[in-house]
Amino acid sequence: METIARLHLDTFELTLRDIQDVGTEKLHALSVSVGWSHREGDWQTLLDLGQGIAAVDEIGRVVGTVMWLHYGPDHTMICMLITVPRLQEQGAGRWLMDRAHELNGATTNFTLTATREARRLYRSMGYGYEQKVLQCQGQSAPGDRPGGRVEGIVRPVRFEDYESLLRLDHAANGYDRSAVFRRLAPESTGHALVRNDEIIAFALCRRFGRGHVIGPVVAATEDDAIAVSLPHVAAHAGSFLRADTPASNTAFTNFLVANGMQIHDTVTSMGLKSASFKPVKPEGPRRIALASQALG
Ligand SMILES: CC(C)(COP(=O)(O)OP(=O)(O)OC[C@H]1O[C@@H](n2cnc3c(N)ncnc32)[C@H](O)[C@@H]1OP(=O)(O)O)[C@@H](O)C(=O)NCCC(=O)NCCS
Repeated sequence: METIARLHLDTFELTLRDIQDVGTEKLHALSVSVGWSHREGDWQTLLDLGQGIAAVDEIGRVVGTVMWLHYGPDHTMICMLITVPRLQEQGAGRWLMDRAHELNGATTNFTLTATREARRLYRSMGYGYEQKVLQCQGQSAPGDRPGGRVEGIVRPVRFEDYESLLRLDHAANGYDRSAVFRRLAPESTGHALVRNDEIIAFALCRRFGRGHVIGPVVAATEDDAIAVSLPHVAAHAGSFLRADTPASNTAFTNFLVANGMQIHDTVTSMGLKSASFKPVKPEGPRRIALASQALG
């Protein structure tokens, strides 16, 4: 394996390697060490979609990572910044972020989803435009259906719908995420809301972490988002379900809570030079649930 750089930290000597070369088993051990629920398969999804670097100690353990995905030519999503607990608060996190910025120098903007522990680091590097995101999770218990009735028909997503889904996602976030959709589509189930022969909202759902995650969900209104998410909640009754939603979506959050999920944590969407995930039209489709915290 090729060495990209070296860092001496206290008693540690770390070697920086291409994250694609270190193996999902070691990456999984790293994320478990900080209490994250990612499976090796979740790491593999990210490795298929992005690039990154891994800090490796003298005996070959992965003790730090950072990854990035390109959403179009001028936008990079940073994710999976992790350092093992025994290494934390010694400068390794900042060092990995500096490398990630350097290696993506031509990119005009960076976005990420910050945990509470990492927010101070990102703020000190100039990240701002903060948007609070609620991580809701728990045992799905289909119950109350807050929100009004919606016009149109909710039906399962079909293969030929993916162009429409991509268009909606682009309108909601401002980025071309076709690579993400190509990767997630085969392992997701989906429901779409069709009104006047046009798909106007959708919700995908796939295996992730301890169970399944509902996301991405894109809709112009929270009622529409609830309508397309409801079948996923019913399909996973009694099992672990998660959705990450911007805190401004009060009705959608109430729907999740009424159906067995609780607010487990709060994270923050941040951008370096501009707000991340901006709808193309203010009244148009927007992101109601993230694909995941890493993917936005
Ligand atoms: C967040 C994380 C990557 C920081 O890594 P690190 O190796 O401790 O980073 P550094 O030593 O370079 O510290 C960077 C800054 O964050 C601060 N910081 C580190 N841990 C912190 C914590 N638990 N709470 C508040 N601030 C913290 C440091 O004090 C430092 O700030 P300063 O430069 O102003 O003194 C690490 O704590 C971690 O892996 N946490 C669990 C996973 C996670 O939340 N990752 C972030 C994904 S967005």
